Amino acid sequence: MSLIPFHFAQPKADKISFTSARDLPTLPASMSSKTFKLAALAGDGIGPEVMREAIKVLRAVEKRFSLQFDITEAPVGWAGIDAAGKALPDATLELCRKSDSILFGSVGLPDRDPTIPKEERPERAALLRLRKEFSLFANLRPVKLYKQLAHACPLSLERQGNGIDVLVVRELTGGMYFGQPKKTEQVSPGVMRAIDTMVYTTPEIERIAHVAFKAAQLRRKKVTSIDKANVLENGVLWRDVVTTVSKHYPDVALEHMFVDNGAMQLMLKPTQFDVMLCENMFGDILSDEAAALAGSLGMLPSASLGATNGNQTFGFYEPAGGTAPDIAGKNLANPIAQILSVALMLRYSFGLNDAANAIDDAVTKAIASGLRTGDIYSAADATAKKVGTREMGDAIAAGV
Ligand code: IPM
Ligand code: MG
Repeated sequence: MSLIPFHFAQPKADKISFTSARDLPTLPASMSSKTFKLAALAGDGIGPEVMREAIKVLRAVEKRFSLQFDITEAPVGWAGIDAAGKALPDATLELCRKSDSILFGSVGLPDRDPTIPKEERPERAALLRLRKEFSLFANLRPVKLYKQLAHACPLSLERQGNGIDVLVVRELTGGMYFGQPKKTEQVSPGVMRAIDTMVYTTPEIERIAHVAFKAAQLRRKKVTSIDKANVLENGVLWRDVVTTVSKHYPDVALEHMFVDNGAMQLMLKPTQFDVMLCENMFGDILSDEAAALAGSLGMLPSASLGATNGNQTFGFYEPAGGTAPDIAGKNLANPIAQILSVALMLRYSFGLNDAANAIDDAVTKAIASGLRTGDIYSAADATAKKVGTREMGDAIAAGV
């Protein structure tokens, strides 16, 4: 059995193997002596302070499990522009190429956007560029509402049922984000026209569908495929291809849902979902909506996976929330999403499941003990204790 949950032998999607997460064997001795080379790109806003806590936790893991991580920090986003004139400086990209995985913070400071052309802004010039550069086509966003945080969920207890636990699998390198032509042009005096193109090919849909079905096999064995087949050509192809791929997974139930209904169902009955399979833009929108159900964007990690080499998968790990400039540098940010992203990295890229479990458990313990950053704090909860970014990181590192 492969240690790696995902094995992407690109471009043949049917070569993907995907083994269980929590119950994988520990790493063989041959791999535990390896030094894992990581690029840590903290970026802007709250990025640096949550990254600091994530690295603290990683160092605790290193000690407890006798692992070695060679972590090199480099600027990206506005930090990259300020340091080297570009959102993705050449040296940062070079570092990523030499690394086993990328730990990413967040980029973008909307207030500064008007000062440079849109193509040079961090979202396009750094984030989207890295996704394309490393073919990170599979974006996994687990949305889980912790029992103790039920108060932070906008839905009534009744609608929360026995707990919300959804995995959004988002296609990340195709669709409207990257389709050509993409341009703004003048069609007549005073009239502009903007064009974005939504385009998908069969292999692109196949490979992300395989990821969703394999993920569902390890969960509650249900895939809800999201599309707009009643209007879009892309939706019709998406639905056909996903249906064909589903034949390889007779143990997984497949349902199709229009994206507008999907958005509504997430609010009405989120417990009906296990894995939601989405194209790029629908996944962008629905994953933020789903994230709200977990009480705070500060709780949500994400993994963007690319190719597998030997028994390692190159991945890009980032919190789902943004740069939150309003609270940056004030020790207010919730570091949990960044810390859980480290756990996803250990699991998906390196097969270090014991270490990943130790982080997940330490986070659960910190929450159970009542520690809360402002975003998940409720004065109504007598056992809750409001803490800062640093204190939350310390507690989780100690819990490892
Ligand atoms: C996300 C973000 C990005 C996206 C932005 C920052 C470009 O919203 O990762 O969901 O749209 O993909
Ligand atoms: Mg988004």
